[in-house]
Amino acid sequence: MTRRAFIAGNWKMNLDRRGALRLVAALAEGLAGDERCDVAVCPPFVYIDEVARALAGSKIRVGGQNLCDQPEGAFTGEISARMLRDVGAELAIVGHSERRHLFGESDELVRSKLRAALDEGLDAILCVGETLDERTAGQTESVIARQLTRGLEGVSDAELERVTIAYEPVWAIGTGQNATPAEASEAHAYLRGVLSGLYDDSSAERVRIQYGGSVKPSNAAELLGAREVDGALVGGASLEPDSFLQIVRSR
Ligand code: PGA
Repeated sequence: MTRRAFIAGNWKMNLDRRGALRLVAALAEGLAGDERCDVAVCPPFVYIDEVARALAGSKIRVGGQNLCDQPEGAFTGEISARMLRDVGAELAIVGHSERRHLFGESDELVRSKLRAALDEGLDAILCVGETLDERTAGQTESVIARQLTRGLEGVSDAELERVTIAYEPVWAIGTGQNATPAEASEAHAYLRGVLSGLYDDSSAERVRIQYGGSVKPSNAAELLGAREVDGALVGGASLEPDSFLQIVRSR
C-alpha cells in the first residue's frame, strides 16, 4: 500500500518569535497548493499560539514537541494536551531522544504521554531509536522494539491510526551523520513487523514511519525514496524555509 508521506519540522529550542513567524510565512507561501505530502511544524510551546494563527487556512499542521502526561493540576512548568489543543496544536511529539536521554523520560512516561495526547484528541509522533553504543552492541532491534511496544501499550487499533512512528537513531540526530537509506529501511521494516505482531498486518501497513536524524536537502531524496520510509522528522534543517521546502519537495 502507498502511505501518504508526512514531513514534520522539530524546531527544538530554537528561533524567536519573529523568526518563527517569518519561517511559517515562507512555508505557507512555498507550500500553497502543494498537495504532495502532509507537513507539520513543532515550535517551542510559547510560539504555538501565534504560529497556529499564522498558519490558519494553510494545510501545515502545528504540534507540540512534548507534553505533560497529566491533564491538569500542580505540575509546575508543564503543559497539558488540552492546553496544546486550546492554542491550535493538532499533534504532539512524544519520546524524542532528547527527552529520553537529557530529561530522563522512561518508556512508561512516554506511554503515559502518548495516552494523554490521544485522549485529548491530539495525533502523536512516537519517537524510537538506539544510541551508538546500543547499535555497536547489536541491540538496535531489541531497543526499538521495546520502545515501540511499551510506548503503544493500551493504544487501540483505531487510535493507532492517529500515531506516526519516527525512527530516529540517536547517533544520527544533530550529528550530520545520517543513517543510510538501507539502514533506515531495515529498521523501518523491522518496526513494521513488530507492529504487525502487536496489531495485525493491515493496521501495521497503515502506520507511517518517519526517519529522523540529520535529514537535509542533500540526502532527503534518497532517504525519502527508500522503501519503508514514509516521511521525515527534521530538526536543524527545518529552521530555514529553503532547506525545509527543499526536503518537502524532494519527496
Ligand atoms: P536533526 O534532528 O535533523 O537536527 O538531526 C532530528 C530530530 O531530532 O528530530
